[in-house]
Order: sequence, then structure tokens, then C-alpha cells
Amino acid sequence: MSKQAIGVFDSGVGGVSIWKEITALLPFEDTVYLADSKNAPYGQKSKEKILEYCIKNTELLIEKGCKIVVVACNTATTNAIAFLRENYNIPFIGIEPAIKPAALQTRTNAIGILATRGTLSSELFHTTSQKFTAGIEVIEQIGEGIVPLIEAGQIDSPEMIALLKQYLNPMLDANIDHLVLGCSHYPFLIPTIKKIIGDTITIIDSGEAVAKQTDAILKERNLLNNSTSISHHKLYSNSQIETLSLMLQEWNHQYTIKKLNF
Ligand code: DGL
Repeated sequence: MSKQAIGVFDSGVGGVSIWKEITALLPFEDTVYLADSKNAPYGQKSKEKILEYCIKNTELLIEKGCKIVVVACNTATTNAIAFLRENYNIPFIGIEPAIKPAALQTRTNAIGILATRGTLSSELFHTTSQKFTAGIEVIEQIGEGIVPLIEAGQIDSPEMIALLKQYLNPMLDANIDHLVLGCSHYPFLIPTIKKIIGDTITIIDSGEAVAKQTDAILKERNLLNNSTSISHHKLYSNSQIETLSLMLQEWNHQYTIKKLNF
């Protein structure tokens, strides 16, 4: 079982930001990545629909022999991970907006969070937010329109810059000193975001924490691959594969990208 791959899925190419952290921390693990780009964005969909997609993705990863599933999508995690953990006999790692470190570190007592509607309206997000942000001003912003642009490969197009300015300027006015990226697509925007907010605001995403948690759970369950041979990575998209390839530029490991109907 320990030689089996780590399965990762997202509503599209966003989870690649998490997947890169996992492959960096665990270089001898094989992986299978599913980009459900056909159904992106999840963020605007109902909880029932999100659950349906998560079940479909999970069952495909299990069918492909994965030993663990990383839900590399905040929207999917906040809406479906409890169900997945209850119904499948395999460990799941989720991703949630890193609101706790931002709340603990803020000095201006104002933090911003950019995430999807599905994440910001979820019960799990509300519970976490309430727990850590008493007395702190939290500027929540739905990043409507961002994910489709990223899925189309637009990271710093004029349209993206205009959208980001619209979402981030009110946070600058509120004097935030931490910006939480609550969607796995958004780390690809960090250089563009920095052009708008500058270098003094700390940008926090959850990629590294998810990789560490994956490592910890694999160790705890005795599932870590102890081989030191070259790992293999299989990535599948159910839409066009160009954007997925774009996200992997400069990533020099062995991998294959294929289109697959799922
Ligand atoms: N990448 C996803 C997330 O982390 C979902 C974005 C979407 O499909 O709306 O929330």
C-alpha cells in the first residue's frame, strides 16, 4: 500500500499550487492529480453539486489505487470533507483558509480574506473564523470571476488586474497587514497581487501546511513510500490541458498530462 500514489483533486488547475508543495516535501511519492476543470468553478455551485463532484473525483482516485486523497480545494474541503471521511475508508487531507496564523500575527488588527462564495458561506469557515478573529476586523471578499480567468490561463491580463484591484483596494483602505488566499487557485496570482498591494502586506496561503499534514498522516498510518527511486506523476484534466501544462512550466520532474473524461 505504501508504494501507491497520493491522489489530489481540485475543481481545476488551482490545486497544482498545493500539489507542487507536496511533491517538494515528499519527492519519492508518486501522485495522481485530477483537474475537474469541466466543472469549475465549484465556488458558485450548491453544496449538493460540490458533494457530487467530490464523490466522483474521490472514487476515480480510489479506482486508480491512491492510498490517500488530498482535497486541494478550499470550497470542496469546507463543503464535503466530513462526508468523504465518513464514507470512504482512506485518509483525507483538506485545505482551509489560513485564517488562524493571520489573526495571531496581525498588528493592525485588520486582515483580508479572498475566497470563493462556497468557502466563505460554509459552516466550517464560519466556525474557524469565529474561533480566531474576536476583536479583529476581517474583510471577507468573494473572488468572483477570478477562477475562470485562471482556468483560461490569464494570470496577469488587464481583466485580472482590474478584478483584483476592485477586490483588494477596500482591504488596503481598511489597513490590513495580512491577506489570506482562501482558494488554491490564487497562489498563482501572488506576483500580480504584489504589484497591487506592495510588499509590506503578508500573503498567506495554505499549501505548505497541507503538504506537512500529508507527510504527518502518511507517517502516522505507515503509508510513507520508503523507496528512493524516481517518482512518477500523472495529471488528468477533463477539459483542455493547455492551462495545466502552463502551470507546470519550469517544474522539471517526470510527469504526464492527459485528457480524461470523468
Ligand atoms: N480551487 C478551489 C478552492 O480552493 C475552487 C475554486 C472554484 O472552483 O471556485 O476553493
